[in-house]
Parts: sequence; C-alpha cells; structure tokens
Amino acid sequence: MKTQIGTNISLACQLLEQGEVVAIPTETVYGLAANALNQDAVLKIFKAKNRPHFNPLIIHLADWKDAGSYTAAVPDMANQLARHFSPGPITFLLPKKEIIPDLVTAGSPKVAVRIPAHPLTLQLLRLTGFPLAAPSANPFGYVSPTSASHVWEGLAGKIPYILDGGTCQVGLESTIVDFDGEEIIIRRQGGVSVEDIQRVAGRRVSLQTETEDHPVAPGLLKSHYATQTPLYLGDVQTYLQEFSGKKICVIDFGPSDWQQQGAVVFNLSEAADMDEAAKNLFRYMREADHCGADVIIARLLPGEGLGNAINDRLRRARHDMK
Ligand code: TXA
Ligand code: MG
Repeated sequence: MKTQIGTNISLACQLLEQGEVVAIPTETVYGLAANALNQDAVLKIFKAKNRPHFNPLIIHLADWKDAGSYTAAVPDMANQLARHFSPGPITFLLPKKEIIPDLVTAGSPKVAVRIPAHPLTLQLLRLTGFPLAAPSANPFGYVSPTSASHVWEGLAGKIPYILDGGTCQVGLESTIVDFDGEEIIIRRQGGVSVEDIQRVAGRRVSLQTETEDHPVAPGLLKSHYATQTPLYLGDVQTYLQEFSGKKICVIDFGPSDWQQQGAVVFNLSEAADMDEAAKNLFRYMREADHCGADVIIARLLPGEGLGNAINDRLRRARHDMK
C-alpha cells in the first residue's frame, strides 16, 4: 500500500468514511484512527500496529458535549474535570453505550473517551461526525510517535494516509482517569499531572497504574515504549564506568557534561523544564535508538508534575523490563 503524508482533511475524512485507517495528529502523540463504530475499520488498526486484541482503544470526539451519545451515566466529577482539561491530554473511562463495539473496549463495560486539542483533528472530527478510535500510531511496543515522520518510520506501506499536524506540543500520552463511586483513579499518568487533577477535583486521587497479567489499561504492559538499543535507567556515572569501551548515549535532564566522557548526549531540557522534557522525550528516545550506540543510559527526573509520567515511560522502556 502506498502511504501519503499531507494536510488534506477532506481526503482523510473520505478514507475514514470508506473504513480505512488514517494517522492523525494530536497534542499528545499521533494516533492511528478509524471509525470507532465500524468493527472492520477498527480491526485494521490492530492489524497495522500488530496490536493484541485484548488492548482496548480510546475514542476521540470533537466536543465533550458529544460524550453522552456514546456513554451512559457520566459522573459529575468527570464533567467537572472535562470542563477544565478538555480538549486536552486527559482521557475518561466511562460506562459505554451499546453502540460502541466490544472490540473497541476489549469487552470492558467502560469506554475511554478523549477530546484531543489539535485544530486539524478537531476539524476532522467535526467533518466525520463519528468518533475516531485511535491508539498511538506506532508498531505495538515501540516508542510513541510525536511527528508525522515518526509515524512514517513505523507504518509506511501499511496505512494509506498520515495527516501532518506538525510536532506534538505535549509529547506524552493522555492521563487516563477512572471513577469508582466517589473515588477518582488514575490508570495512566500522562499529559495532565496528578497534582493538577487533584487541585481541580478538590480532593486526592488514587494511583492504580501498576499492572500484572491482566492490566486494567493494557498499554501499561510492563515492557512498552521500548527502544531496540538496550536502555539502562539509574546513576549515569556508574553505568558509564560499567560500559566503558562501548559506544554510549545518555538521555539527560538539566545541566550535564557527559560529552566530556565520550558519550553522545540528548538533553530533554537543559533548563530542567518539565514541559520541554515531555515534548522531547519520545523524539530523543528514537534518536538515541538510531545513533549507533551500544547502550542508552537515562536517569529518572524529579518525581513531581510531568516528571512522574516521564519516569513511568522510562521505566517501561528499560532493558531489564523485557
Ligand atoms: O494521548 C493519548 O491517549 C493517545 C492519543 C492518540 O490520543 N492515545 C494513546 O492510545 O495513547 P494507546 O492505545 O496507545 O493507549 C491507550 C491506553 C492503553 O493503555 C489502553 O489499554 C487504555 O488506554 N484503555 C483504552 N480503553 C480502555 C478501557 N476501556 N479500559 C481501560 N483501559 C483502556
Ligand atoms: Mg500506545
């Protein structure tokens, strides 16, 4: 299949109406979209990504007001959080209506709903009129794409069109929020920090992101976001000694001078700015993977704000998780 890249929204819409898949830009990462109400179209997503069917998909809507068409009984707290954060990097798990195929939710009675904050994709969603099911547009298990060329690297030849919306401004996937009675549960840390959710909710949330054999959010499989080059996470100086003689690449944060010791350095943010680091993370993981190094060494960021979500991705990418 020939893959095209462009900014033609009506072509993207036409392909989606025909039951095809299209890669779409969002503020978090690029998604691989299909009509969420069309099972055959949704199956093509799983096939292109080589993604296991037990892993459910987020549906994307143009407007929070549309959520009621696909979900039953939206908790007040979901409305309150959506008023603040949607469109934006937050996803809500809500009881699904019949119209959403079981394939989309992998049999779960809840569907994941998100309003992406990207002008091209919002325009596309208004044109299609149906929700778009979309996981991140990477082959299963690899680093998420934050540009059209990242999507191309992983999926060229497997999908007809990549809608090019530039570089993703947030760079980390959405935060997934679940509700159990009055309880707010974070299933995946992401582009909206836990602290910000707690501030708007006016109460503490619980974090239930660790996963075992049957993960609640199966994207949280322990090994995920993995580079092909082995990635080690911890004290950089110690690893530099352990791997001396090898070609080493360091993913760092804040002031750093590992170049002096012969390493290739990708600095997520020299100014130690968390937003900048989030935006650069997946691009630098890819570049580190392609720079010819034998090993990648990364260190954890301070455990506050988006630092926690970044650390989560690094932990899942580490070599000894495989
Ligand atoms: O920012 C994002 O969320 C991006 C963009 C494209 O919207 N999407 C994304 O999709 O990261 P994906 O499929 O790579 O990750 C979605 C996560 C997975 O861990 C999946 O298991 C979980 O959401 N998920 C989806 N539907 C669910 C459901 N009904 N119940 C529990 N977890 C669900
Ligand atoms: Mg993903």
